[in-house]
Amino acid sequence: MEDEAGLSHASERDWITVADADAIGEQEVMCVTLGDLNLALYRVCADEWYCTDNLCTHGNAMLHEGWLEDCSIECPLHGGRFDVRTGEPLSEPAQEPLSTYPVRVILGQVQVWVARS
Ligand code: FES
Repeated sequence: MEDEAGLSHASERDWITVADADAIGEQEVMCVTLGDLNLALYRVCADEWYCTDNLCTHGNAMLHEGWLEDCSIECPLHGGRFDVRTGEPLSEPAQEPLSTYPVRVILGQVQVWVARS
């Protein structure tokens, strides 16, 4: 049996609480560190959240330091843009997509799904 995100309920333990929903406003980005993962958590609007790798695929820049406009994050170093919903690059010089991670909010807690090995 799978949930809305297509994830097996057997993977429930892979949902990790990363923030209070109140800690991040609409059109804001937050840096989240989970072990070796450095992630960018985006609140596009009240009930719309996304998560991608934080490191830009073009160079050594952290996307949480960039600018979020609707569903597009602009890298602070060279201005490449990515769609935070899919991780796909939207403009040069970004060419490689970002990895994305499912997000849900349970009782005011933002959780990110990260498969544990
Ligand atoms: Fe992000 Fe170059 S480092 S666009």
